[in-house]
Amino acid sequence: MSQSLPSNKTIFSGIQPSGALHIGNYLGAIKQWIELQQDNNAYFCIVDQHAITVPYDPSTLPDRVLDVAATYIAAGVDIQKSVIFVQSHISAHTELAWLLSTIAPYGAMSRMTQFKSKSKTIDAKDSVSLALFSYPVLMTADILLYNTNIVPVGEDQKQHIELARDIAQRFNTTYGDVFTLPESYIPEQTARIMSLTDPKKKMSKSDAEKSYIALNDSPEIIRQKISSAVTDTEAIFSFKKSGPAVKNLLNIYKAFSKKEEQVIEQELAEKSYKEFKDSLAASIISGLHNFQQKFDEIRKDDVELRFTLGRGMHRAQGVANSTLHRVKEVMGLM
Ligand code: AMP
Ligand code: TRP
Repeated sequence: MSQSLPSNKTIFSGIQPSGALHIGNYLGAIKQWIELQQDNNAYFCIVDQHAITVPYDPSTLPDRVLDVAATYIAAGVDIQKSVIFVQSHISAHTELAWLLSTIAPYGAMSRMTQFKSKSKTIDAKDSVSLALFSYPVLMTADILLYNTNIVPVGEDQKQHIELARDIAQRFNTTYGDVFTLPESYIPEQTARIMSLTDPKKKMSKSDAEKSYIALNDSPEIIRQKISSAVTDTEAIFSFKKSGPAVKNLLNIYKAFSKKEEQVIEQELAEKSYKEFKDSLAASIISGLHNFQQKFDEIRKDDVELRFTLGRGMHRAQGVANSTLHRVKEVMGLM
């Protein structure tokens, strides 16, 4: 992401309402959304139909949706300018997904690494669903409905966006130029925040709580989690030379403290792991303080949140339906 910030483009991204959001989601995705929304036309979706592709609890899903909506707003999404809405409120998403699945290449779909890794985590009794396999086609529909140019996400979604682009291209070649070709927008250093307990794995809400910092963790919990985070055998603080565990912590420190790499390396030169971890925990706590206050305030008012999501639906619907209409026309379905 060394390019300058794009302008006058359409931005689309989404997060699944499937549990606590963590600093990986924030640094990998949401932070870029906030930077991009000012000079672009942005849609931020709560992708509930993606969240139901694995076993989930229907009784808590409505609350999880409101949690994500409140997270977007508390993190700085401007609801006057950008559109936030719930995927299942607009039926064009699933309808377009079916139409696109008629040209989605099965071979490429079978190579999606997220499907391979997620399907391994599912218990035999629940079995892997067809929806988990076709998930990237629904994601393609999400993106293509809004004539999206840019999709700001973490590194793990890059393969899905390449597939979306490939499907758009195949469609245009077969039926005529309907779709805009999307591109991913991935931050350089925080594209893949790693687990605090295993730096070989990405930070993920489906792993043990100690492995991630949730955006709503209390200062006490943040201190505990950082103090038990794994480090490398040699205590060097260098963005180039540190081992993977420390490099990950340094990247998090850089993002929250907003200091330059050189400044951080100098500051830490004579420090112990304990001292580094104290500074790191303090910078995360202060970096999340405003967010947490706003979140608590916004999350109290379900009615207002639902109203915002209803307004988002109305704003998104027109564009989505007009894209779907064109698709049906060129496919001979009108
Ligand atoms: P998910 O929680 O899988 O719905 O992901 C939501 C967004 O956060 C996507 O753009 C992901 O690429 C991004 N994301 C998730 N985990 C990480 C991580 N560990 N590091 C960076 N970005 C992440
Ligand atoms: N698959 C994405 C994830 O797990 C979420 C998602 C669904 C998405 N549809 C999208 C992201 C469209 C960007 C654009 O993180």
